[in-house]
Amino acid sequence: MNQNDYATFEKLFGHKPHHIYFSPGRVNLIGEHTDYSGGYVFPMALSLGIFGLVRKRKDNVIRVYSTDFSNLGVLEIDIETLAYKPGFSFGNYVQGVLYILKTAGYNLNYGFDLYMHATLPTSAGLSSSAALEMLLFEIINDTNGFNLGPLDKVKLAKRVENEYMDVASGIMDQYAVQFGKKDHALFLNTHTLKLDYAPVDFNKMTLFLMNTNKRRNLEESDYNERFNAVKTGTEILQKYHDFTVLGELDLAVFKPLMNHLNPQLKKRLRHVVSENARTKQAFDALQNNDLMAFGKFMTASHMSLRDDFEVSCEELDFLVEANLELGALGARMTGAGFGGTMIAIYEKDHVPASFETLKKAYQKKFDKPLDIYTAKSADGAKKIKGVA
Ligand code: GLA
Repeated sequence: MNQNDYATFEKLFGHKPHHIYFSPGRVNLIGEHTDYSGGYVFPMALSLGIFGLVRKRKDNVIRVYSTDFSNLGVLEIDIETLAYKPGFSFGNYVQGVLYILKTAGYNLNYGFDLYMHATLPTSAGLSSSAALEMLLFEIINDTNGFNLGPLDKVKLAKRVENEYMDVASGIMDQYAVQFGKKDHALFLNTHTLKLDYAPVDFNKMTLFLMNTNKRRNLEESDYNERFNAVKTGTEILQKYHDFTVLGELDLAVFKPLMNHLNPQLKKRLRHVVSENARTKQAFDALQNNDLMAFGKFMTASHMSLRDDFEVSCEELDFLVEANLELGALGARMTGAGFGGTMIAIYEKDHVPASFETLKKAYQKKFDKPLDIYTAKSADGAKKIKGVA
């Protein structure tokens, strides 16, 4: 945020902002498509995120502006009619947050003017929507004195996705965005919500984020289809074995059971059960500073997402192979898949001098640019400081 942002705020809203907030994106290191069946995830909050300049209002009007959607101008939210509006873009998330708060008994007394500037790419598998949701929860909680605790906010934000946006997603994204801690990744059991912070040492390794810029068409329906497959498969296995969530099953128990599943469900659940095992092992490897082993689990995760869960795509597979050839210790897709971002870790001393050749090859093959970022960690969503 710089003087330009402050000046634009004043121009758009006619007064100065009072506070500045930051909400990070997240990268999931490993543990993919495991968080809606009580499994393990291992995300990290990113220094890429959304900055928000805010001024509390005396009435309950809400006006929002995003530099990423400057063509839409200032969106005004009518708190009386919060039904999803096709074409209302990120305004639907604002409505969704207010709608869920309302259904939970929190009625807005004070509105706000909000100007957002994101350093995080949207629709890239780095949780720009969770970053937006948690930013809004922070702001609304503060301006209205709702006294919501961090976990309350996370659970309400998850409901925005599940009940308002109609995506059957798990708790990982909102949790990581809220509970992120600089220089740490979050090893989370999504069933019990037991959390272990694992130190991530960027003096020894470099983590790259490679955005495929592939638009994720039909992502919501594909995502919900995978959710339903895991649910159906779990219900079948529960007839033969006593367990509550798939995250409890280890491979030894799962293997004899999987013959009760049709070939497709077998693949889907095999991914989930093996991914939980890899995530636990990867957590141990990172604790022991065994980057080589950590990288191997990452790559194995990608293969399983590609072959068993079938949520990868040509662009992601190409980048995984290319990075392994360049000497990465491990590489995989991150997030929901079907496009989005690929991540690769390199030993600090073995980072390629340049990715220019890879960028050119990618552009030539897929007719799209490849955007590369070096991942840095950050704390979770919070008010940074007053500005007035
Ligand atoms: C999306 C969802 C998460 C999680 C990942 C896949 O990011 O929002 O809850 O399921 O996909 O691991």
